[in-house]
Amino acid sequence: MRRPSKGRRQIHDADGLNTGVWPIDLDQLVTPVDLFFTRSHAPVPRIDPNTWRLEVGGQVERPRAFSFEELNRLFPRQHVTATLVCAGLRREEFLSLGPLPGELPWGPEAASTGQWTGIGLRELLHAVGITERARHVEFVGLDQVERQGNRFGFGGSIDLAKALSGDVILASELNGAPLPAVHGFPLRTVVPGWMGARSVKWLGRITLLEEPSANYFQRQAYRIERRVNPREPRDVTSGVALCGVPLNAVIVEPTPESAVPAGRVQVRGWAMGSIGRRLSQIEVSPNAGQDWVPARLSAGSEWTWTFWEAAVELPPGRHILVVRATDSAGVTQPETVSATWNVKGYGNNAWHRVAIDAE
Ligand code: MTE
Repeated sequence: MRRPSKGRRQIHDADGLNTGVWPIDLDQLVTPVDLFFTRSHAPVPRIDPNTWRLEVGGQVERPRAFSFEELNRLFPRQHVTATLVCAGLRREEFLSLGPLPGELPWGPEAASTGQWTGIGLRELLHAVGITERARHVEFVGLDQVERQGNRFGFGGSIDLAKALSGDVILASELNGAPLPAVHGFPLRTVVPGWMGARSVKWLGRITLLEEPSANYFQRQAYRIERRVNPREPRDVTSGVALCGVPLNAVIVEPTPESAVPAGRVQVRGWAMGSIGRRLSQIEVSPNAGQDWVPARLSAGSEWTWTFWEAAVELPPGRHILVVRATDSAGVTQPETVSATWNVKGYGNNAWHRVAIDAE
């Protein structure tokens, strides 16, 4: 039996569609389903798996609709352990610079790791035949999101190279059981190393395209735009579409504003490289970034978070703990949120700071 979680589920909207548990349990690399974060732009659709079909079309030689049974019979099972990271992770830290109207104030709880099982996207695309014009693969869900007076399925696209990398799966299971409704039953995309927004739930259609998806969530949201358009302050259409998760590191323990006994204090957390890049170093500062000690890294793989731990000496008083990660290419995280701020507050990967008291 798993011991009860220390974490509490935080709920970010009136309908309870956007939630995450914090602090996470650092003894389990894989997040139990009941502790997984949820991020949905519309209510969970009810889907009958017997009548459900996955349509595959666009720039393919043989457009086709597959039943759930056909997908499982025609394609081999594939597994990947991957951490889903929401683009809004750590958005609340941007609020020190000003409000972000209409955006959910996520802390670090919008990330979880699953063992995903399904079929390979590459195998499915080869089975329908990819035309020479195909450059992007669009996924559209069966949920009904309302934006700008229209109702449509949440969607987005990835480039063909990622789609054919062998890493992307169409998952029907999470942690060895059928996908729970809230996580995309009966089938969802899992794009390891990419922002969670491209891992489309309740998958209904895959379309191969010459250009990136025109879906609202690809063309008008989930884009990094650092300049504010004075006429339309929330407009990000001219920004860059989000792809990979940024290099990031988060302090999980001690939790913000907690009191710890003065002396030797264990600092623990998670870190993750960008698009599968390995971590080369995690450093922890006991004094707001003046001095740094190296952390010890434990289990983790290219598509998951890695847990880390460091011991620091804290005299009695107030302290700002900081963590920063460096990856195998020597890239490190930006020091401040002003260096990473953008119009919709996506992808915050500034050094993570936690204020605590040692007594
Ligand atoms: N897919 C659909 N159809 N609708 C959605 O609202 N949200 C996306 C993605 N896939 C979403 C979706 C976002 S922004 C994230 S971070 C992940 O799903 C969250 O997946 P989870 O709810 O299983 O944690």
